Amino acid sequence: MPLIASRPSLISLVAALLIILVAPIPSLIHAGKPHLINFRSPNLFPEGLAYDSSAQHFIVGSIRQRTIHSVSDAGVVDTLISDPTLPDNVTVLGLAVDKLNNRLLACITAVDPLPQFHALAAYDLRTRQRVFLAPLPSDDEGPRPVANDVAVDFKGNAYVTNSAGNYIWKVNAQGEASIFSKSRAFTSQRVDPDFPYSFCGLNGVAYNSKGYLLVVQSNTGKMFKVDADDGTARLVLLPEDLNIADGVAIRSDGVVLVVSHKTLWFLKSQDSWGEGGIYDKIALDPEGFPTSVAVGGEDRVYVLRGHVLEGLRGNVEREEFSIGEVRSERESKEDGVWIFVLIGLGLAYFLFWRFQMRHLVGNLNKKTN
Ligand SMILES: *[C@@H]1O[C@H](CO)[C@@H](O)[C@H](O)[C@H]1NC(C)=O
Repeated sequence: MPLIASRPSLISLVAALLIILVAPIPSLIHAGKPHLINFRSPNLFPEGLAYDSSAQHFIVGSIRQRTIHSVSDAGVVDTLISDPTLPDNVTVLGLAVDKLNNRLLACITAVDPLPQFHALAAYDLRTRQRVFLAPLPSDDEGPRPVANDVAVDFKGNAYVTNSAGNYIWKVNAQGEASIFSKSRAFTSQRVDPDFPYSFCGLNGVAYNSKGYLLVVQSNTGKMFKVDADDGTARLVLLPEDLNIADGVAIRSDGVVLVVSHKTLWFLKSQDSWGEGGIYDKIALDPEGFPTSVAVGGEDRVYVLRGHVLEGLRGNVEREEFSIGEVRSERESKEDGVWIFVLIGLGLAYFLFWRFQMRHLVGNLNKKTN
């Protein structure tokens, strides 16, 4: 019975070959450094970051200038929008690309002591002309609003966070604005007044294609799931607070990325964000003061280092900023395991086939002889 007798040696052969063949794989996976885009623009101090997948470049705002710029993979900066009709010295914060209408949406805010102004601007990405400037209605009570971040759904509706008042505006594709969600959930969490950035509530917002928003709150480190139809909101249960969470983005595989000026969290959920788990947490250098995260080409994750804190200090001048890819080590390892498994299966299949062929040929030879 040669078939049975040769089995153990076949298995040991497969094992030996596997070890020889896949040993160099891990170094292949970790080859190539994370993509770093350094770019220069005098005193830009960008806070918001978006990726325009059709133009294949990033888009950044500015806390000091009424301009919006594109940044290429190679770090070439181009002025996309310069809008001197906006009030003096306003800040361009959160940005989003409305793919349906090929528009860029930008949160415009005048920071104290400038005269109050907060609006959502929409620009046509082809003509670079402004489509609308929608002033955002404020309720009379509450602190002076700050239009901080924006997300867009598939119908062109924009959702804008008010970090001071802890509510969300909606601006439809015609530029009509209203207060959309003022859920009690947003003020249900205790805020420590001594906490840094205690003035900053709802901040980063992202739209999930299943019809809801994920919103993070800087001064509590909480995340909320907000129904994009009726504005009802629920706290997302997380194993820890995302302290000073600023920006949020959703990758095409559903992974949610949250950034603060010193941490990037990778989160996953099994139940559409009733609760979420943190499967990786990466320390960032606070010197660049990351404020935004975006998903670029090939589903890579990038954070913006706009040195915003430095820029807010006033008289400081700076020309160099960067957009840097951040990888999850754990993900790279998981990818590595999959490559091992696939190569192993392929090899085993091949050897099994050869083994059978040999017997088939052997049997045929026996018969013909
Ligand atoms: C805007 O900034 C410039 C330069 O700092 C300053 O001279 C000007 O007075 C500011 N405008 C307003 C409305 O504060």
